[in-house]
Amino acid sequence: MENTQINSEEIIYQIYPKSFLDTNHDGIGDLNGVIQRLDYIKELGVTAIWLNPIFTSPHVDNGYDISDYYTVDPQYGNMTLVARLIDEAHKRGLKILFDLVLNHTSSKHYWFQEALKGPDNPYRDYYIWKEEEEKEKLPNNWKSFFGGSVWEKESEIGAYYFHLFDKEMPDLNWQNEAVRKEMIKVAEFWLDKGIDGYRLDAFIHMEKAGGYPDARYADPGKLVSAEEFFANLPQVDDYLREFSARIRETYPNAYLLGEAASAVPERAVNYTFPKGKACDSIVSFKYFPMDEKKKDDRFPLESQEGKLNVTAFKQVMDEWQRKVGEVSEMTLYLNNHDMQRAVSRLGDPTEFREESAKTLAVVMYLQRGVPVMLNGEEIGMKNLELKRWENTRIERIHEVYATLLDRGISKEEARNYLSSISINASRGAMQWNDERFAGFSTVEPWSGVNQERMYNVAVQEVDPSSILTFYKRLIQVKKKALFTHGAYEMLVSKSPIMSYRRIYEDEQAIVLSNLSGEPQKSEIDLPLFSDQDAVLIVGEYSYDEGAIMLSPYASLVIKTTL
Ligand code: GLC
Repeated sequence: MENTQINSEEIIYQIYPKSFLDTNHDGIGDLNGVIQRLDYIKELGVTAIWLNPIFTSPHVDNGYDISDYYTVDPQYGNMTLVARLIDEAHKRGLKILFDLVLNHTSSKHYWFQEALKGPDNPYRDYYIWKEEEEKEKLPNNWKSFFGGSVWEKESEIGAYYFHLFDKEMPDLNWQNEAVRKEMIKVAEFWLDKGIDGYRLDAFIHMEKAGGYPDARYADPGKLVSAEEFFANLPQVDDYLREFSARIRETYPNAYLLGEAASAVPERAVNYTFPKGKACDSIVSFKYFPMDEKKKDDRFPLESQEGKLNVTAFKQVMDEWQRKVGEVSEMTLYLNNHDMQRAVSRLGDPTEFREESAKTLAVVMYLQRGVPVMLNGEEIGMKNLELKRWENTRIERIHEVYATLLDRGISKEEARNYLSSISINASRGAMQWNDERFAGFSTVEPWSGVNQERMYNVAVQEVDPSSILTFYKRLIQVKKKALFTHGAYEMLVSKSPIMSYRRIYEDEQAIVLSNLSGEPQKSEIDLPLFSDQDAVLIVGEYSYDEGAIMLSPYASLVIKTTL
């Protein structure tokens, strides 16, 4: 393979605009809020901002259902504010990535409204249709990500259209060249306005298996999530490469961060190699294998995740580093808006919140790759505590809650469980201070909000031992060549300890972390080091007969010359 140049210098800060800062008192975050906090973002040390979609949308799926790709949703602002945001971000040396939804539009989009007019409409072929062959029989047994069939009948007598997500989000037909051209036009429109690239939403689904065959392994009459028929098909590479080539004719440096939820390392390489031909990096959701055995059987098992399986996690990281990290850029992340907050999911949000938030960041971000951090993780935000029952995407939530209480589970535990499975677990309003609405707004936020005395920006900004202060230091450490360009080597250690080495020219760093709530003894042979060589410390370490003892969720990062 040629072209192994790796440019792992970006550090991306993901902003969920709806939950970041509300400046017009409607309980919804806005672009002006992002502009007001650019200095804060700059001070974190990150280099780029990825904004979840801000385009005009009916908000069936918080903006991932776009009805007009060329305008900003009025709830967020307008074109003038976009121009100001880009300008002010660039003045501070920050790049801006927008979130581009390629796979589907809103059903309210003009194209779909036209398509509904019938088979002769020129926009009909922008979407995917299947005639009803047998009365009331669905075209196949594929299940949509949001539940129910992927097929929806347009009207009593009409055909079925295809939707992988909500029925208000019909999938585009990427086999149609006109669709591909439209998307390139959209991408160029915002690049012309000055943005620096895109996060490409759900692009791995752009092609579906020809003929839409049934998944034959499914139980008769049941729907199944048959991803092999609609994720990562070979044609996706062609569409992606064409898209990339066209926009890079004018914008060779446009950054493309792809969302490839189910991509395995081999597929990730196709999506990112060689550099400049497709995505720069992708986010796969496969990084965190969970231990099925560590589920709490008092709660419904199928909706729970268990606890991080540290050995399996080490295996995944090692494999991605070898297969992807060696040839292109891999992303490093702990959170995103579709997952629970990392400190709740992977760490310990009650007993060791500070230590686990810091150690997770050390373990993840000092590896080789591009960090992508979700707003709020830098202050250790945990899952949003549910106070209302709406907007959770939990079926029959009242019933589930009542059943849990009947089983003798406390209200607090039942709510924590429901909070963890809610779609908004990580979309709670940003905690700027400890006021009633956490400084996010002067009115009740759309999402609800956690009000916490310690876990907010105002308190942590002035505390040298806070998670926020630690994140700033960690980001500075990460920016050194040793951690951006250095080679990566996992070291043998007994789980739940994870350890790896970075090497660059005559320097090496060793990262040693305890990913558990109990003290652990490390058997790793460390080079001789003095206090000055310890570049980052979380929790405590001590010597015990030649080995190092790590307190719960402790980390030690040392740097020495070779
Ligand atoms: C992506 C987004 C998710 C959205 C989906 C449909 O997975 O991250 O929030 O629901 O695409 O656009």
